[in-house]
Amino acid sequence: MGKTTIALIGPGAIGATVAAWLAQSPDLALTLCVRTPLDRLEIEAPGGLIMAQPEMLTDPAEARPVDWVLVCTKAYDVAGAAAWLARLVGPETRVAVLQNGVEHVARFAPYLPVERILPAVVDISAERSAPGRVLQRMNGNILVPAGADGEAFAALFGHTPIEARTTADFTTALFRKLTVNCAGGICGIVNKPNGVARDPAIAELMLALAEECVAVGRAEGAKLADDLAASVVRGYQTTAPDSINSLHADRMAGRPMEIDARHGVIVRLGEKHNIPTPMNRLAVALLTASQ
Ligand SMILES: NC(=O)c1ccc[n+]([C@@H]2O[C@H](COP(=O)([O-])OP(=O)(O)OC[C@H]3O[C@@H](n4cnc5c(N)ncnc54)[C@H](OP(=O)(O)O)[C@@H]3O)[C@@H](O)[C@H]2O)c1
Repeated sequence: MGKTTIALIGPGAIGATVAAWLAQSPDLALTLCVRTPLDRLEIEAPGGLIMAQPEMLTDPAEARPVDWVLVCTKAYDVAGAAAWLARLVGPETRVAVLQNGVEHVARFAPYLPVERILPAVVDISAERSAPGRVLQRMNGNILVPAGADGEAFAALFGHTPIEARTTADFTTALFRKLTVNCAGGICGIVNKPNGVARDPAIAELMLALAEECVAVGRAEGAKLADDLAASVVRGYQTTAPDSINSLHADRMAGRPMEIDARHGVIVRLGEKHNIPTPMNRLAVALLTASQ
């Protein structure tokens, strides 16, 4: 049997980490689809440095259909990713979307048949210091919906320390992660690493953001524990104080931030379910004004 072909669009913090690990397998043929060229991938992983030099394309016109596409751009870079999809997707191609937020499928539905799209919740903490250079703070995990595509996606990671697995309740996984992400919006607002959660006044704001997300998530069918919001805040208080979430990394780098995918969506779903979301509304306003 030939190698499974994978094209990964957007080797940033998450994309470079995932790509470097996948590149370690002799059974996978990996191509990077990049916007900014890079010489190689160097990931400072929890177990030590890993390196890879996969094939790299900079122009969608050079791309050919593959078995799997992994989209690892930011949620706001969908149009740029779609230019690649037009060339990478053949009749058998499956497209995994490794992004935050809860609207993975809706985001790509204008470009692909929805049954080809596999949404993925990524819980890996990764920070990019230069093109292709990433600090991977934990091995982490990736959750995808149960089913044949989910199983096939998880199998791609069989040789890596990243735990990729399926879940029968993907809605709950989506909103658990959104709860973590919306609390972390505070770091983008005050422009400080995750350790700012140790300030009790900041922790209170994080809790209020997270509680709104829990309420909205439950209205959408997620089964979220009563202590989820509090445990999310505790997570920020106990993580490495200098760690930086991806929205804050965007602010520091002067890039757009995933404001809509991480806060705007909570406001919109709150309106749909008649649930007040003043804290996430405030986060949208403050983050938007800080751009
Ligand atoms: N970082 C984390 O710890 C983390 C954890 C969990 C989930 N996430 C989520 O994972 C997703 C990716 O986040 P990230 O932190 O990895 O972002 P990132 O570091 O900004 O990486 C995004 C990558 O996409 C590339 N890109 C943008 N447009 C492109 C195009 N048209 N063609 C090819 N490449 C393109 C960017 O290129 P340039 O090099 O030119 O900028 C960059 O390399 C986000 O939804 C984020 O919320 C992140």
